[in-house]
Amino acid sequence: VGRSDTSRATVLVCITCRGTSGTVGAELADATLQAAAGAADVTIQRVRCLANCSRGPSAAIRCDNSWTYVFGSLAPATDGPALIEGARLLLHSADGIMPWKGRPEPLKRGLTARVPPPDFVGEES
Ligand code: FES
Repeated sequence: VGRSDTSRATVLVCITCRGTSGTVGAELADATLQAAAGAADVTIQRVRCLANCSRGPSAAIRCDNSWTYVFGSLAPATDGPALIEGARLLLHSADGIMPWKGRPEPLKRGLTARVPPPDFVGEES
């Protein structure tokens, strides 16, 4: 199945995760924006709660026609670049699935859930 828009990925960062500092989500959003550094291929969006609060700080990555990935236990000090790297892996994936091989470590251990794209037709058992 082809993918219609391969030009941009979106990283959604929860800004209401409080963590130990009380502002850990906002810190992660800032770090992710910095890591993107005005890149044309990744959009950063702030979002108030991804319902992954107990495993926050949280972020999600999606592209058109790709699966959507939710991550938790992210670290503002280090994981902004990991989110950008993961977004680009998903953007350039031929099947809409973020490859495990080469995926940044925080996006392996922090993986919370993945959700198929809207046109998903289900799989055989
Ligand atoms: S407050 Fe961040 S996921 Fe709910």
